[in-house]
Amino acid sequence: MQIKISASILSADSTQLGNEIKRVEQAGVDLIHIDVMDGHFVPNITMGPFIVEGIKKITNVPLDIHLMIENPDKYVESFTQKTDKDDILTFHIEATDDPLSVINLIKNRGLKAGIAINPDTQGQVVEKLLGAIDMLLVMTVYPGFSGQAFKKYVCEKIKKLREIAPENLDIEVDGGIKPETIADAASAGANVFAAATSIFGKDDYKDAIEALRKEANENSYQFMKSGGSL
Ligand code: DX5
Ligand code: ZN
Repeated sequence: MQIKISASILSADSTQLGNEIKRVEQAGVDLIHIDVMDGHFVPNITMGPFIVEGIKKITNVPLDIHLMIENPDKYVESFTQKTDKDDILTFHIEATDDPLSVINLIKNRGLKAGIAINPDTQGQVVEKLLGAIDMLLVMTVYPGFSGQAFKKYVCEKIKKLREIAPENLDIEVDGGIKPETIADAASAGANVFAAATSIFGKDDYKDAIEALRKEANENSYQFMKSGGSL
């Protein structure tokens, strides 16, 4: 599976957002991770559709939009005004009773659909949806803030989900990803890595991204499909 690094702009200098995005783009990042928080689903408020539209104007790097909001179905349209087929819109399984209809709404808007799952949510909850999505985002911290410590126990869930997922499904991890923790997530089966602090907290973004990519590549998951279910 292709290893992809997704720069979470939650830790970027917000007064220099355009420049920060240019810098990670030049540093070779694969995705721009945008954390959308509503103050209800998570105890923090961040960015909305207006910022997503602005970012779309200044970069060709695909967007990895992580919705941490209640009622995601109501906001799919406003977050997809300027997106295209390479962008991913991800919502939380805990935030809706009808995930399949949200997936369809997103796909009908012409972009990729992702589902996110919190650290303590059982993998079974997403099992039947794995064939319908383009990406599964497994949280390795409780969503809400950057700079938290990686929860290693989540790797067991990643492993089980990777074993039953379609082979081409991207599995992203998000929270506490740094060169010291990425190997655990990669060997469990993740291939997309969101990182805020370990990129924007460094002086040299290229070095930071390369350090993550190197560790992930060297420890990437080896496919041995056994089939079955969780
Ligand atoms: C947390 C966000 C993450 C966060 C990651 O709720 O979804 O994307 O920005 O930050 P770090 O990489 O610092 O853990
Ligand atoms: Zn995120």
